[in-house]
Amino acid sequence: MSEKEIPCRVCDAKIRPFMTFGPMPIANGFLKKEETPGEYFFEMEVAFCEACGTFQLAEQPDAKRMFHENYAFFSSLSRHMQIHFQKYAELVKDRVLKGRKDPFVVELGSNDGIMLRHFSEAKIRHLGVEPSKNVAEAARQKGVNTISEFFDLALAKKIVAEHGHADAVICANVMCHIPDINSVAAGMAHLLQKDGVLMFEDPYLGDMFSKTSYDQIYDEHVFIFSATCVGNAFKKHGLELIDVLPQPTHGGSMRYVLAPKGSHPVSPNVPALLEKEKSLGLDRAKTWEQFKSNCEKSREDLNALLKKLKKDGKRVVGYGATSKSTTVLNYCGIGPDLIEFISDTTPIKQGKLTPGSHIPVKPYEAFAENHPDYALLFAWNHATEIFEKEGTFTSGGGKWITFVPKVGIIE
Ligand code: TYD
Ligand code: ZN
Repeated sequence: MSEKEIPCRVCDAKIRPFMTFGPMPIANGFLKKEETPGEYFFEMEVAFCEACGTFQLAEQPDAKRMFHENYAFFSSLSRHMQIHFQKYAELVKDRVLKGRKDPFVVELGSNDGIMLRHFSEAKIRHLGVEPSKNVAEAARQKGVNTISEFFDLALAKKIVAEHGHADAVICANVMCHIPDINSVAAGMAHLLQKDGVLMFEDPYLGDMFSKTSYDQIYDEHVFIFSATCVGNAFKKHGLELIDVLPQPTHGGSMRYVLAPKGSHPVSPNVPALLEKEKSLGLDRAKTWEQFKSNCEKSREDLNALLKKLKKDGKRVVGYGATSKSTTVLNYCGIGPDLIEFISDTTPIKQGKLTPGSHIPVKPYEAFAENHPDYALLFAWNHATEIFEKEGTFTSGGGKWITFVPKVGIIE
């Protein structure tokens, strides 16, 4: 692990990595066999800043390696997520837009319009900012106004000049991807009306700590946020945390509600969560030493379990070639000797190998038509939906293996 000091991305304090996950490929870098010799790896180290409470990657690969024209993540493919974003849009309408004259909503990272279409259909003025051109085009096809640009203060000024200030600025699973958080926060603060509201949600640090779900850490997630850190990060841009709303998505997320200081009352949820984070020690470096040993224990246990099953002659298959699984497989050193293949419903992943660990990814049918003895649940954030539809696997004697919150066989 490197000893070098780096500046905290939020507050510029000098910090050092406290843990490395080892050489890591791009989490969504599924590749063909002939591409494996040139595969890219970076040392995935994490650091915690005690000054502002921010958990962050020490170094993030170049954005071009992570997001390119083949990066086609279409939010609308998941039914559960569709419902989630419909409810999110309803909350924005009820809580923020109600009673306002001709309100204007801006979403950053609006993907294929999964959330904004609810504003478009209600004839509410809206604008999506989505740098990925292919998904932005999919949104426009649905009648969702979308521009394909990166958001910063300059773009915020351009939007204000053209449309006026926004009553609501919203995003989901976007903020934790953006390394230059200060530039985006400054742009958001400029874009908002004096009494406008900013809402965003991302995987929550408290869940990651309590579940040892270290698989939230991968190249794209430069931050794992807490209320402590979000409060500190936005304070210097004049925005105040006015509410926090826990969400079940992505294995435990938090929705942060912010507004220009003094413009809205602060919900009691905010001091309560800040207090809870303090009592859990989420704001202290010592806690992250504990997290590191929890990760090491998880790695040991998963290897021991898979090796025992192999010795017993059992077939083990992975379920869901998630981005998260790249961290688990590479950190734990698990390859095709322990996991026969991973089944996944995403066509562009099928027929390829998992990044770094080189386990074949096969279509869902490979799992359904020849059930293994054990299925390792990499898509654990969708467990409810998956257990519901895989009744015949378990009734036929198949068993699920999980590693969150602890490694084990689900009985
Ligand atoms: P996702 O939840 O987006 O996780 P991540 O952000 O870590 O990539 O991805 C879920 C993956 O699991 C996606 O590749 C589709 C796959 N999947 C299945 O193969 N079957 C299923 O039933 C579900 C719910 C997901
Ligand atoms: Zn800091």
